[in-house]
Amino acid sequence: ASTLGAAAQQSGRYFGTAIASGKLGDSAYTSIANREFDMVTAENEMKIDATEPNRGQFNFTNGDRVFNWARQNGKRVRGHTLAWHSQQPGWMQSLSGSSLRQAMIDHINGVMAHYRGNIYAWDVVNEAFADGNSGGRRSSNLQSTGNDWIEVAFRTARNADPAAKLCYNDYNIDNWTWAKTQGVYNMVRDFKQRGVPIDCVGLQSHFNSNSPYNSNYRTTISSFAALGVDVQITELDIQGGSASTYASVVNDCLAVARCTGITVWGVRDSDSWLGSSASPLLFDGSGNKKGAYNSVLNALNAA
Ligand code: G3I
Repeated sequence: ASTLGAAAQQSGRYFGTAIASGKLGDSAYTSIANREFDMVTAENEMKIDATEPNRGQFNFTNGDRVFNWARQNGKRVRGHTLAWHSQQPGWMQSLSGSSLRQAMIDHINGVMAHYRGNIYAWDVVNEAFADGNSGGRRSSNLQSTGNDWIEVAFRTARNADPAAKLCYNDYNIDNWTWAKTQGVYNMVRDFKQRGVPIDCVGLQSHFNSNSPYNSNYRTTISSFAALGVDVQITELDIQGGSASTYASVVNDCLAVARCTGITVWGVRDSDSWLGSSASPLLFDGSGNKKGAYNSVLNALNAA
């Protein structure tokens, strides 16, 4: 196959990208995105601050721009994200305790109702674990509502849209030896044992010199999968853009049946949150395919 999406489909997987609503008027951007990718994540437009700027008043204008572009072009959509310590609107940042807990539940219900039946997978909870060696939860206003906030979010989400896969999504859980990875693994194992609804783990996979790709990534993917969840690589970018590292990431996913797809976090280097100089993506700022693109395509085609 000659595009990333078609090549991934040969093994029943998808290859996606983050899309920014503000770039949908850029035809160079949309033509690459439409040609190459078959899954879309809104880079910012479905987050809490965007979708519920005032309590109880939902705004899906930009979320729907991304969603409609994807669906009009035959692509599936990953929902990102419902419960997160970051990008909360001011009104939510100022809540605590039971009123914050209720606001989280209401937010999940409001956003999932709008997209009900139309989302492949939701990142229900994003980045809830701490960096470093604790393996424990990140401190946040949501965590302060009680340790059960994550399972409450997942149970709420299952009821709100039974058709969507429900994912826990985080960064720095790619390296199997890291405490954060083990903390998330233990939570997912506990959820599966107790029947808390969870269908997938999202490995963001933002690789850089502080959190580099490690060959134990395949062990991470297969270990999560062995718990009975899908694994999705949800926000892939590699600082420096190494073609061989990109190939390793793809091959590690392809080696695990339940690794169902890969999403890169932007189209061109110039679209990346890291900035062009990091060279983290598959297309350069002029829209040319990079070495990393060819290596990803070849790996997908060899599967
Ligand atoms: O839209 C406003 C614009 O009106 C304003 O003039 C400008 C001034 O700063 O800000 C613009 O908003 C920015 C927005 O991106 C859109 O470009 C925000 O400041 C900026 O904070 C925001 O950054 C996003 C970041 O999440 C926020 O947490 C990045 O685009 C987005 O790529 C990044 O994505 C996250 C994932 O959601 C979760 N995992 C990590 C990943 C990378 O940080």
